[in-house]
Amino acid sequence: MAQEYDIAIIGGGPGGHAAAIYASQLGAKVAVVEKDQLGGTCLNRGCIPTKALASSAEALLKARRAEEFGVKVSEVGIDFPGIMARKNRVVQTLVDRISQSMRTDNITVFAGSGELLSPRLVRVDEQEIAARKIIIATGSVPSRIPAPGLELPGVLTSDGILELDSIPSSLAVIGGGVIGVEFANIFAILGSKVTIIEMLPQILSPVDEEIAHRFGTQLQEFGVEINTSAMVKEVRSAGSLLEVAFTTAEGERGIEAEKVLLTVGRSPYTEGLGLAELGINMEGKAIKVNSRMETNIEGVYAIGDVIAGIMLAHVAFYEGKVAVDNALGRYHEADCGTIPNCIFTTPEIASVGMSEREAKEKGISYKVSRFPFSASGRAQSMGETSGLIKMICEARSGRVLGVHILGPHATDLIAEATLAIHFEANAEDIASAIHAHPTLPEALYEAALGQLQGAIHYGRMK
Ligand code: NAI
Repeated sequence: MAQEYDIAIIGGGPGGHAAAIYASQLGAKVAVVEKDQLGGTCLNRGCIPTKALASSAEALLKARRAEEFGVKVSEVGIDFPGIMARKNRVVQTLVDRISQSMRTDNITVFAGSGELLSPRLVRVDEQEIAARKIIIATGSVPSRIPAPGLELPGVLTSDGILELDSIPSSLAVIGGGVIGVEFANIFAILGSKVTIIEMLPQILSPVDEEIAHRFGTQLQEFGVEINTSAMVKEVRSAGSLLEVAFTTAEGERGIEAEKVLLTVGRSPYTEGLGLAELGINMEGKAIKVNSRMETNIEGVYAIGDVIAGIMLAHVAFYEGKVAVDNALGRYHEADCGTIPNCIFTTPEIASVGMSEREAKEKGISYKVSRFPFSASGRAQSMGETSGLIKMICEARSGRVLGVHILGPHATDLIAEATLAIHFEANAEDIASAIHAHPTLPEALYEAALGQLQGAIHYGRMK
């Protein structure tokens, strides 16, 4: 008889490995099945490697501006293999740390693809793992579109672009969502001629319109050409280059580029899991779960990108915790009401809560305040003055509904706004807390003051 675990988790990405560690901390005997390196997409092919590349791009920009800071640098150049090697080192360090945590938490890792034989049995190659509860955390893979020519060499997904050995002279990005825009930003700074082709009228469509528009202007300053309301028809060979043909309101166009990056979303990954045989209900390609992360089969849970909803590592962490609690008999319903969104561009973008458009659509009476980083002492001293904080509050109560940031360290600054919305704070609550000077979080404090009597370091808010 196979050894029985309390919980077997299929997939060692952010959702799976965090759930495993949490379950072990609660005293459970845990197995994780992983067919690749621990860390999943986030660590190996997503969040972490792209942020390592973004940091190299940022270092380059800083070095180019050295004189502005009174620093003499004799030569600024790019060592692309060095950038990629640093990215690989960062990834490997974190993968090793996860493997180490698995050992210290006594979590058994099975290398291979897991298949559900029953609600209590997982097969990994020739081995069978018996478990009281199973959590599926198999993540997602890049989506494709049916346009011809996408199989041509030189057409990359977010996986392939992380393995380049030289900077492409030109890059056409199909899809102006989060991944497309992050890579467009990195490669434009590194010197590629980048063109974005986005089918919707706005890049970063879920982002607050005003913030997305201002960001688009900044991206264009790096030389990125942005085509919106543009439908890709096909990709074809053009000598040593590729040509992306697309239609816009003005007619058909073609863009030549050395490489094409396809970033049109991601799809849940459920291949070989045996879900249909087990009768697990689906929502399209995603596994359907209830608010306790349980599928229609008792004792089988699913979390992260493989279920319908928002594909973010921090959402997967949270869902993993909810699934583990329920699997161990601690009733826990997920509340995904306050999810911060971070985009690691130059400058960064971060948001939490409602956009102005959503507030309008819901018929809520709201007030908007803005605080530009150009009015922040800290931002001025850093030389990072572009962007703003936009705060949306319920008009009567001042309750914070949404915060949208474009600017330096936006992805760190959003934490305070997330806490404010999570605890249903109003502008007065934020404004009554003493914020250290001179720091960037003062900008949030000033935006909160803008909801009240007015900011100190910026004229009366409109
Ligand atoms: P996405 O859904 O963010 O963006 C895809 C974009 O492609 C959309 O704007 C869509 O309108 C466009 N598109 C779709 N079909 C098209 C076509 N035929 N022609 C032109 N444009 C087309 O998906 P993305 O960027 O691939 O990211 C996948 C997931 O990964 C997202 O859920 C995202 O939240 C997550 N992610 C999050 C990051 C972060 O939080 N910083 C970083 C990277 C990914």
